[in-house]
Amino acid sequence: MSGPAAVRGQVALISGGSRGLGRILAQRLLDEGWKVATFSRSANEFTERTAAERPDDFLWAQVDLGDRSALRGFVTAAARRFGGIDLLINNAAVLNKQELFLTTSTRQIDALIASNLSAPIALAQACARVMSTQSSGQIVNVSSINAIRGYRGVAVYAATKAGLDGFSRSLARELGPLNIRVNSVIPGFFDSDMTTEVTDRNRERIQRRTPLGRLADIDEIADTVLFVTSSRASFITGQTIVVDGGITC
Ligand SMILES: NC(=O)c1ccc[n+]([C@@H]2O[C@H](COP(=O)([O-])OP(=O)(O)OC[C@H]3O[C@@H](n4cnc5c(N)ncnc54)[C@H](OP(=O)(O)O)[C@@H]3O)[C@@H](O)[C@H]2O)c1
Repeated sequence: MSGPAAVRGQVALISGGSRGLGRILAQRLLDEGWKVATFSRSANEFTERTAAERPDDFLWAQVDLGDRSALRGFVTAAARRFGGIDLLINNAAVLNKQELFLTTSTRQIDALIASNLSAPIALAQACARVMSTQSSGQIVNVSSINAIRGYRGVAVYAATKAGLDGFSRSLARELGPLNIRVNSVIPGFFDSDMTTEVTDRNRERIQRRTPLGRLADIDEIADTVLFVTSSRASFITGQTIVVDGGITC
């Protein structure tokens, strides 16, 4: 590491760092010495304990992905508090109860696009503006295998994730000259609150169709995100990196 980040320590902004993958990423980055700014709709035991134990390194705020000005305000607050932003992980997303497209309401469609696509784009713009003043930075968009394979009941969710992948590729072209890398990580199924509704029958089917014969451990997804953000991946940008045990191969 060289430049301003080396002096002040590296700063990550993670959307949805209270639970699931976001929480694991927040904890692992803190363990590696990063400062972490994260938000979610509700505080929980993790965010409250970490804010109390690591007040100099951890910032949490209540922000909803649907509130564009609150998102921008959070980026400004994080950059001010920690002196910059070196990494944005667009992790938070919503997967509504799986529903067939013909009966999905316009309101649900708009809300899903707002939280899963418009919000990550707004966060990327606000963070990239900070990163451009530092002449370095990275953005990782957490996508889904739904972006690259069709599944019933998730058409709009799939559209938002495919949109995010296209966004990553073109943004990488635009921000590369500013020394900002942009990638998408495409996880297969892993256990989290988002997948509690997967029935035993579906879980068995997923396992059967996965060459490695199981769901991912959440740390395997975090490993991939952290690899992409590491110096070992310093020449990787504009890519979609699939980590799915082979289910889409
Ligand atoms: N789980 C899987 O099998 C799987 C597979 C492929 C891709 N993914 C992707 O991986 C990422 C992480 O998924 P996960 O399973 O870890 O999710 P999760 O366990 O449901 O956690 C989601 C996180 O985002 C926050 N969040 C959700 N809606 C929000 C909103 N409207 N405003 C602000 N924060 C919000 C949640 O906190 P609050 O609820 O308190 O707001 C929580 O911190 C997502 O992008 C998901 O699409 C997951």
